[in-house]
Amino acid sequence: MSEPQSIYLSDYRPPAYRVTHTELSFDLDPMATRVKARLHVERHPERAAGEPLELDGEQLTLKSIAIDGQPLGDDEYVLTERGLRVDGVPERFLLDTDVEIAPKDNTALEGLYQSGGMFCTQCEAEGFRRITFYPDRPDVMATFSTTVVGRSDREPVLLSNGNPVERGELPDGRHFVTWEDPHPKPCYLFALVAGDLQKVEDRFTTAGGREVTLQIWVEEENLGKTDHAMASLKRAMRWDEETYGREYDLDLFMIVAVNDFNMGAMENKGLNIFNSAAVLTHPHTATDAAFQRVEGIVAHEYFHNWSGNRVTCRDWFQLSLKEGFTVFRDQSFSADTNSAPVKRIEEVSFFRTAQFAEDAGPTAHPVRPDHYIEIGNFYTLTIYEKGAEIVRMLRNLVGWEAFRRGSDLYFSRFDGQAVTIEDFVACMAEASGQDLDQFMRWYSQAGTPEIDAHGEYDYANGAYRLVLRQRTPATPGQPDKQPLHIPIRLGLVGTKSGRDLTLTLDGEYLGQDGVIHLREEEQEFLFTDVEEAPVPSLARGFSAPIKLHFPYSREDLAFLQTHDSDGFNRWDAGQRLALLALDDLIAAHRNGVEKVMDSRVVEAFRSLLNTATDDKAVLAEMLTLPSEAYIAEQQPLVDVDAIHAARTFVKQSLAIALRDDFLRVYHENVSEAPYAPEPEQIGARSLKNVALSYLVSIEDEEGVELARRQFEADHNMTDVRQALTLLVHSSRDDLADPALRAFGEKWAHDPLVMDQWFSIQVSRPQADALERVKFLMDHPAFSLTNPNKVRALIGAFAQNRINFHRLDGEGYKLLADVVIELNRLNPEIASRLVTPLTRWRRFDEPRQELMKGELERIRAEKLSPNVYEVIEKALA
Ligand code: ARG
Ligand code: ZN
Repeated sequence: MSEPQSIYLSDYRPPAYRVTHTELSFDLDPMATRVKARLHVERHPERAAGEPLELDGEQLTLKSIAIDGQPLGDDEYVLTERGLRVDGVPERFLLDTDVEIAPKDNTALEGLYQSGGMFCTQCEAEGFRRITFYPDRPDVMATFSTTVVGRSDREPVLLSNGNPVERGELPDGRHFVTWEDPHPKPCYLFALVAGDLQKVEDRFTTAGGREVTLQIWVEEENLGKTDHAMASLKRAMRWDEETYGREYDLDLFMIVAVNDFNMGAMENKGLNIFNSAAVLTHPHTATDAAFQRVEGIVAHEYFHNWSGNRVTCRDWFQLSLKEGFTVFRDQSFSADTNSAPVKRIEEVSFFRTAQFAEDAGPTAHPVRPDHYIEIGNFYTLTIYEKGAEIVRMLRNLVGWEAFRRGSDLYFSRFDGQAVTIEDFVACMAEASGQDLDQFMRWYSQAGTPEIDAHGEYDYANGAYRLVLRQRTPATPGQPDKQPLHIPIRLGLVGTKSGRDLTLTLDGEYLGQDGVIHLREEEQEFLFTDVEEAPVPSLARGFSAPIKLHFPYSREDLAFLQTHDSDGFNRWDAGQRLALLALDDLIAAHRNGVEKVMDSRVVEAFRSLLNTATDDKAVLAEMLTLPSEAYIAEQQPLVDVDAIHAARTFVKQSLAIALRDDFLRVYHENVSEAPYAPEPEQIGARSLKNVALSYLVSIEDEEGVELARRQFEADHNMTDVRQALTLLVHSSRDDLADPALRAFGEKWAHDPLVMDQWFSIQVSRPQADALERVKFLMDHPAFSLTNPNKVRALIGAFAQNRINFHRLDGEGYKLLADVVIELNRLNPEIASRLVTPLTRWRRFDEPRQELMKGELERIRAEKLSPNVYEVIEKALA
């Protein structure tokens, strides 16, 4: 096989031929499924006559091919590894093909595969070409009619997109169902599910009066775990009507849960397929975080019905058109149904840790990339989360009303079409009358902009001068960057009054919480009529995906942490304060001097613990120290051990100093009320469990006993998991080992709980974590072909910073071994799993060498395009 080739956005052309209607018939068999396709093909009006018909197709065994009923001889078409070519086709014709595929051998989980005994599909981005020969690109949209034939005993349920229109019995114990999807769609939205499934059913009446049947299909043992997903679905449907005026457009909406799935879920038209981890919940098996994740993903996939399906992407470079917008929509939905400030804090802390790292590493790419080798590598935090941040900036720039008008315009103008990011932004510009030309650079420029800010107060004139300077670091292939249009929401907090002062900029009154627009490389903003000396509160709510540096003193930060009117920035001030203290301690550790705790941090925590609050979830976040990964992000060169030691020292110092406060907060938040995944309960549980984590960090006897009892009480998985994690991560193996054993035996039958059992053990800081990984890889519940298991065991271990980065290199070696094996079995998972190794340049010399060595060992293998692309970038 030749070296994988790059595909360029600038090479885009409409397809030579399009398909208007697609008829499929599947005769299911694990090793020899037959797929017959009849495509209604016509020349694209913008393309010349006489061009060859080129279809994508991989791993298909062609049995026969005919045009307008005339079988083609072997010399009338060309078969390659990538597809099929036919020369001299008419302007408009019927193409019939018959192929054979082997779903049981499909460990890549793309195309048609088996999960347990059931058949299912994953076609986005380019999986459909593993089902039949087809122009597998999103700008070819057809109506589909699909007949599925299966065994009545093994596959009593046969599902596809749209509505069932016919079903019947066949000889030899087989049966069939025919499905019709009236909405033209690209083939990446095709889906088929067949197996022994049970359903839970509900109904929803749309605002326009359409009666929709809602079904969640699961294996029998999971019937009791669908309530939350169903409730979330109905909330999402109503929310999209009320917020975006979008209604559902079929009579049936189905969700299916499958155990083997590469990602979270997939928005196939009318038949969403979900990783079981993203849909199943029960108070005894799922944590609060899992409940919230399910709600978010159910909403996300549902929202795609408009932002993705009715209006789709012209080509895969536009992936963020549907993903960025849809993530923004699901984030807004979750903020409306939960504690909005805590949602934002969670989003941003995740974003600043993981997306910033991606944007600063060798695989950095723009939100709209201009080339790729394997699109499967571009389902990234940049495309999804940074894409969502861009849409959020747009919403804030034009205001909600204009944004909603722009959204309406977008959906009506482009309904049923495959379009580009420019089309979307043009609707926003048109609806708002704003010039968004410079703003478009956010889509084409990779890297995280860094803003250096400073300001001074002019006592004589009552003016505050703020100077901002922006700079985006070079990223691979983009050495020079242009200034971006960056909206900075800010307030000036009076140091005497502790209140937001009014903002007057160039004679214009901006209120007390205003937005300034940074467009130049350097810009000065002069605020007048500022009555007292302020501390600026900048980029409130994380108003842009930037790193903002301001020379705050620790006193400034302690002040903002108590007085900022913006909840997000109050939290952020606390994080900045903790980071400054951590910096000192990291230096102390490196220099071998005694560590001294900054009393300002202790006092800040003491006052948090003793101030009444109505948002316990936010308080829990404020009491949570920046993660080791986030601290590492702030360091020029990552010192894994110093970071771990410094953070542990801060945590334990706080626990010692504030032991009684933590204990009190724990007891104040214990509740016997029946579990509900509701904001108030979730907030109280997080607060209680954060307090417990401090107490157990110093192995306080009472704290450890509380953890043991919380585990034993077995009230809900959030509490059980936290208690078990704290015990396993402490040195109290006398308590941890029996608890782990009991938990493992109790839940041996439940794969989603066993995933948690794996993760808890391999993320422990003790030196035996790596040995545990190796041992657990032989556990009967582990499997390398199940992505959830790989993430739970190997993925979780790679996040265990001190143990993954062991100086003997054994952590790196283990990861590389698994990547090499998965490169053959499941390239998409392999190329994701290798990510931590690609960040080698961030570490000290010995670790760099070790990590690079493992990357080179991987490079020597015969690589899938997925892993090849990532490894080449990492070693470039
Ligand atoms: N469109 C899906 C979602 O975001 C994800 C599909 C991912 N597919 C892939 N091959 N990585 O909801
Ligand atoms: Zn999506």
